[in-house]
Amino acid sequence: MKLWGGRFEKKTDGLVDDFHSSITFDQRLYQQDITGSIAHATMLGRQGIIPQADAEKIVAGLKEIMADIAAGKVQFELDAEDIHMNVEKLLIERIGDAGKRLHTGRSRNDQVALDCRMYVKDAAKEAAGLMRELCETLLSIAKDHLETIMPGYTHLQRAQPITLAHHMMAYFQMFTRDMQRMKEVHAHADVMPLGSGALAGTTYPLDREYTAQLLGFSAISQNSLDGVSDRDFVCDYLYAASVCMMHLSRFCEELILWNTHEFKFVEMDDGYATGSSIMPQKKNPDVAELIRGKTGRVYGDLQGLLTTLKGLPLAYNKDMQEDKEALFDARDTLVKSLVVFNAMLAACTFRTENMERGAAGGFTNATDAADYLVKHGMPFRDAHAVIGRLVLHCVKENRAILDLTLSELKGFSELFEEDVFEACSMKACVELRDVPGGPAPRRVKASIEAGEAWMKGFAI
Ligand code: ARG
Repeated sequence: MKLWGGRFEKKTDGLVDDFHSSITFDQRLYQQDITGSIAHATMLGRQGIIPQADAEKIVAGLKEIMADIAAGKVQFELDAEDIHMNVEKLLIERIGDAGKRLHTGRSRNDQVALDCRMYVKDAAKEAAGLMRELCETLLSIAKDHLETIMPGYTHLQRAQPITLAHHMMAYFQMFTRDMQRMKEVHAHADVMPLGSGALAGTTYPLDREYTAQLLGFSAISQNSLDGVSDRDFVCDYLYAASVCMMHLSRFCEELILWNTHEFKFVEMDDGYATGSSIMPQKKNPDVAELIRGKTGRVYGDLQGLLTTLKGLPLAYNKDMQEDKEALFDARDTLVKSLVVFNAMLAACTFRTENMERGAAGGFTNATDAADYLVKHGMPFRDAHAVIGRLVLHCVKENRAILDLTLSELKGFSELFEEDVFEACSMKACVELRDVPGGPAPRRVKASIEAGEAWMKGFAI
């Protein structure tokens, strides 16, 4: 019989058991569920709401069940619907009447909210830890390539020279923001909902603060209706995961491009590429493509849950059971993507000579040539026009600006002198971009140091 079977005259249809049971996926919450129940029972005993001896039996029984589930010794029942009732049923089977007191002053509605909050807290910490590892990889690449010049792009057209370190540190900024977002996700989830009951609290003198303290929560929820209805914290995780996937996906797109024969900026390690079943020459960046592809499914998890929640009246509705598969899917996808991406990036070989050639070949110093004329007295708009004509000439002749002789340059402006060759060299172009946040090596070095300090101070 169902734990709630008293009011029913007929058995649940088999189709319904199959349709509404969540045990196939929410068994992943068994640790959170049992840990929450242990705290609840401990509090019930301490408050004298149930006999102390029963509380102790419950705690011992639950610990045994936890160990047996971990050891794969427990067969869950579809009929018992979800992880909450499976555990309670097992407990009653094992310890008898004392087990029937566990659910005093509690509903599955506040119970599942608690379990999900505990899960999200762990997931946020886990994600931030993996993001930290990726940030370490980025810092180490950046340190090795402070002086490695490469073309920076806008519109995917070569624009101005930067360094590989500067490019890597751009991603570092993104992933540290992702870490910060996960910290905020953790803070939003860190509110203990037990005591909300089904929706209207409870008549028992629960010590909610004590339960919160036992479970390591920093606060208790302030409204029982909201306590059982709120899934914002799940959306927060899904959003933070989506943004991180978006960052990974952009990075993957760049690695895919850089790995092409046309760019040749990077050589992917054989361990992270795959071959073709028909074309013997192929070495495909499948891992990067798959991360880019999986970004869509994490967005889908977020969009799906937002849509599920949008029409729900207060308080609990069964629709909310749909939060879990989205959450688990996003967590699994994010974790796997971060781990494999980090390993793949760490194993990349950067073809720095091609990067430097790319920077030198694409008129990336055109702005600097204009700035040279400005520094010698010409208004910027005129200098822009002069260099525009100069570039057009070079394009037609298939030459770079600095391939021209001084007298050829003087044909475009009398202000050019011998020192233009030095002033518009790739190295100078990067070094002169000496603003805070700019690509000049000493500025990037400073941003690496600031980043390291930030990472040291980061904790959830
Ligand atoms: N399996 C349910 C869920 O995940 C647990 C809460 C069930 N509550 C209820 N009133 N049916 O949402």
